[in-house]
Amino acid sequence: MHHKVTSDNPIGIFDSGIGGLTVVKAIRAALPFEKIIYFGDTARVPYGTKSQVTIRKYAADDTAILMRYQPKLIIVACNTVSALALDVVEKVCGSIPVIGVLKAGAGLAVEATSNNRIGVIGTQATICSNAYACTINELDPDIHVVSKACPLFVPLAEEGLIDHDATRLIARDYLAGIINQDIDTLVLGCTHYPILRRIIEETIGPAICIIDSAEAVALRTRELLEESGLLNNSGEHALPHLMVSDLPQKFSMIYKLFLGSELPDVELVEV
Ligand code: DGL
Repeated sequence: MHHKVTSDNPIGIFDSGIGGLTVVKAIRAALPFEKIIYFGDTARVPYGTKSQVTIRKYAADDTAILMRYQPKLIIVACNTVSALALDVVEKVCGSIPVIGVLKAGAGLAVEATSNNRIGVIGTQATICSNAYACTINELDPDIHVVSKACPLFVPLAEEGLIDHDATRLIARDYLAGIINQDIDTLVLGCTHYPILRRIIEETIGPAICIIDSAEAVALRTRELLEESGLLNNSGEHALPHLMVSDLPQKFSMIYKLFLGSELPDVELVEV
């Protein structure tokens, strides 16, 4: 154990940028009294177009930043890191438990499908790693997984183009090849993608069930905290402590847009 852990210690969450805010939102809805420490590596985003060696180095740095705050749990709110570097995060964390978005999302998708055909969209690195297909097939080897990298979704989400024809056009182009493969479930295997959920939904139609890996991880976090007796029941709401490696003001604006009216301070930290 690196440090003494009680229910009062924070939950540490990180992502390459703003994508992990979809996880912060889901955690705050499911677990309103938890203290949250968030790090977004805005100086080095995107991760999903980089090599495994680079992603693993970044993952170690990000985890070390959160460990300064003595978290009781770390959530890897980035599918790319979950797919390619979860072991690196676990090593830096020692005995502190780690939850990755990928496993949580894969589990929910397996529960949701009835025709055993699941689509997965994610970054280039996540899709190339084949981690979703492997994790899904470990749970159920009879499921057929169809996947597609959607790299332009990350900058479109970062730019806030959530209701824009450019996003619609790109979504149609990316998704055409997987929705014609008879899938009944689609995993948003990148934490940036729920930001574009409306356009994705519109493009795939109502018959396909969407799995948001951010919501999946919130459910898993609640379970784990309950099992280990570390759920915070203080009844006190605390604002998350937000940190980024570049452009804190921009992050603060996006946070406000995304999570409501409160204006949090965003601290600039060096990686
Ligand atoms: N939000 C991240 C993910 O879930 C990655 C975005 C990126 O940095 O490429 O994969």
